[in-house]
Amino acid sequence: MSRRTLIAGNWKMNGLTGSLDYFRELAPVAADSAAEVLVCPPATLIHPVAQACRGTRIRVGGQDCHARNSGAHTGDISAPMLRDAGASHVILGHSERRAGHGERDMDVQAKAAAASAAGLVPVICVGETLTEREAGQAVEVVARQLAGSLPENSAIVDLVIAYEPVWAIGTGLTASLTDVAEMHAAIRERLKNPLTTCILYGGSVKPDNAEALLSLADVDGALVGGASLDVTDFSAIVRAAGSGTQLAR
Ligand code: PGA
Repeated sequence: MSRRTLIAGNWKMNGLTGSLDYFRELAPVAADSAAEVLVCPPATLIHPVAQACRGTRIRVGGQDCHARNSGAHTGDISAPMLRDAGASHVILGHSERRAGHGERDMDVQAKAAAASAAGLVPVICVGETLTEREAGQAVEVVARQLAGSLPENSAIVDLVIAYEPVWAIGTGLTASLTDVAEMHAAIRERLKNPLTTCILYGGSVKPDNAEALLSLADVDGALVGGASLDVTDFSAIVRAAGSGTQLAR
């Protein structure tokens, strides 16, 4: 069974309504791409970005959601709200949320269940710290995060996994191709739907390393932070996934 390649941009806490010209430039690149293209702007921009991307091949995603659909949760945003605003995906369990907001695997799992119940594709992030990698525990840590973070019915859920070594995020460091290949194979082995689940690599993906990373057998795309803020760089990464005239894997 084939998997589509997915190139996803994570804008984090960046972007104002003045940033929407970006999509006029990205739309033709997405139209010509073999990959699905997803941009996850801050929540305030999901609706305007979804409007700006109508009729294009660019999908829009959130960066987090609450595990409940509604209620007394000041400042939070639910999965049905993201869907209502035009999102198709939501990033969950990003290491910045795990570190900055104390999110545990069980929280990510509850959010993932809420997201898929609302019709969103969860993009579940996992990844080890440098200390864990240096201690030889990278695969064990990621396996534990996966086991705890995937929704219980993950066999019937459309989901995406993003392997993001924490030490590679925003640092300009990337894992070696050998380490990425090893980790992606280890992740795939542990999935209920190994043939159809997209596994993205994230952590300092740039135009000059995207092609090599994307050429690895178990790398089905990229989650791009810093480089997704620049439409020229993000377009180059989308192009590295191949054009629509090539067969999707
Ligand atoms: P980066 O971020 O590309 O800036 O390293 C990746 C991410 O945090 O998703």
